[in-house]
Amino acid sequence: MCGIVGYVGSRQATPILMNGLSVLEYRGYDSAGICVQNGRLTTIRAEGKLVELEKKVKRFESHGTCGIAHTRWATHGVPEERNAHPHRDCTGSIALVHNGIIENYQELKADLMSTGHLFSSDTDSEVLAHMIEERMKNEMPLLQAVEDTLAHVRGTYGLVVVSKDVPQTLIAARMGSPLVIGVGEDEHYIASDPSALIAYTKDVIYLDDGEIAVVTSEGVHLNGSPSALTGSRQSKIDWDVEETTKGGHPHFMLKEIMEQPKVIEDSLRGRMDLIHGRCILGGLEGIQDRLAQIDRIVIVGCGSAYYAGLVGEYLIEEIAGIPVEVELASEFRYRKPLISERTAVLAISQSGETADTLEAIREAKRKHALTLGLVNTVGSSIARETDAGVYNHAGPEVGVASTKAFVSQLTTLTLIAIYLGQLRGVHERTHALLAGLAELPKQVQEILDHREQILEAVTSLGSTEHCLFLGRKFHAPIAYEGALKLKEVSYVHAEGYTSGEMKHGPIALIDKSFPSIVLCPKDSMFEKTWSNIEELKARGGMIIAITTDRESVGSLVDACIEIPQTLEELQPILSVIPTQLLAYEMAVARSLDPDKPRNLAKSVTVE
Ligand code: F6R
Repeated sequence: MCGIVGYVGSRQATPILMNGLSVLEYRGYDSAGICVQNGRLTTIRAEGKLVELEKKVKRFESHGTCGIAHTRWATHGVPEERNAHPHRDCTGSIALVHNGIIENYQELKADLMSTGHLFSSDTDSEVLAHMIEERMKNEMPLLQAVEDTLAHVRGTYGLVVVSKDVPQTLIAARMGSPLVIGVGEDEHYIASDPSALIAYTKDVIYLDDGEIAVVTSEGVHLNGSPSALTGSRQSKIDWDVEETTKGGHPHFMLKEIMEQPKVIEDSLRGRMDLIHGRCILGGLEGIQDRLAQIDRIVIVGCGSAYYAGLVGEYLIEEIAGIPVEVELASEFRYRKPLISERTAVLAISQSGETADTLEAIREAKRKHALTLGLVNTVGSSIARETDAGVYNHAGPEVGVASTKAFVSQLTTLTLIAIYLGQLRGVHERTHALLAGLAELPKQVQEILDHREQILEAVTSLGSTEHCLFLGRKFHAPIAYEGALKLKEVSYVHAEGYTSGEMKHGPIALIDKSFPSIVLCPKDSMFEKTWSNIEELKARGGMIIAITTDRESVGSLVDACIEIPQTLEELQPILSVIPTQLLAYEMAVARSLDPDKPRNLAKSVTVE
């Protein structure tokens, strides 16, 4: 949600800032801006996608070796240039970029206006610039002015401030919205996401909540400390710059779908002992004793991560025999969940920064539950705040819609289920499941090699504006996920239902203009799902089947997408792939950009 970049060193800042913004554009793309310090502050902002800012940057001079930049996803104020960051104070002496929300901005703004401050935007962020200005007017040094300002705000922030009067210095502060500092040779970078820095350095320092850093070319000083931060806080990014480019594909979403065979391999690497039928999860080794004691697991997540959790519920209950509940993190955090020391709360999150999921984990900690993370982004807040966890190792996901992250979440959840079974002496399915997992990359590749099936399905759907996704048992969550994917990138209204529920209401929608996409692999639910297909057909409904058995199903349906057969527990990992491709192709067929769906941003760090 919104992207921040900062640079201080000896090179020209503008190209570095613009390059960082282009990497982060997927985080927000309704407006963007930069501010470069050079005796004064030069600020250039533009409404719309980054290319609009690029055009302006070419027209105006912005020399200087210290600066900040931002790409915005609107929360307060319409997406117009005046609401774009960087925001400034009345005199143009202070500029800042801010991610997050200042909850008490209205009262702060009213106070500032009553003392003569003039505001030029509708944003909550602008109050921070005026508050800092007010304090500096009273001779407070910049750092103290930022500290004192933040002591008076309620809400969340990832904030970077620059002042025309303090050369070659950036102040960075974090509370609930991530910031990372990149360490170079006599230069430093700041970003809301390490992907914006990786082209320059892999050495990074993640700021913690409540920390304020003074960043100069020489060093990083924390919370007013006279000594610079040392190596102990530094970590290394473990992926490469190539992973943040499209690699020859027209869109990140397609690239990320196509790389799923490798993603599954990466999630499995080093974690399966096929000879002894064991699963090795280093991230859980240290808490084995406590894990063996738990009597219940609550999985929390949002959106696709929540749907992955629903598959996880089936997996863990069937494989390890532990009761599981899955809850939307945004609900969990606001009720009084009945959890104890013997409950493990597992947060699933690609970004590791989703505000609701992070708060759910904090609530679980307050209740003394064991907190676990299934997280993709190394060093993210959820990864750091949970007691233990497992990374899904999908690499950076740039496309706004979760694809490879979802598939790697399912893969890793299967490993977690096997591991939990192992701790309880349950081994019956382990050999078969590990062997099945090892086959998945090849099987996913087979689906990707037959993409033409998807194009036929897209043609059958034509210009439809509505459809149902249906599935049962392991495939109910895949129906929800398929519907979410289609609606978010192609704007076709889609609903996911478990097929058993169809007769309790949704079937009323069915006629020849209302298509259904039915997940019907040959599994324990096949006959039941087959009956549902007959019911749909009897009402004239158009049906696209995603199945492992074209021969049985093909004659009754309008289009058929065939996928390889695997074990029932693993089948969702294969059957979700055609739903991703379908959403992608529908978006492209409608001339939409699947990487930048309207009103959405990649990482939701606000409520
Ligand atoms: C859908 C999608 C979202 C995310 C959700 C959680 O395609 O990407 O629904 O799954 O916002 O995000 P993370 O996993 O980062 O917590």
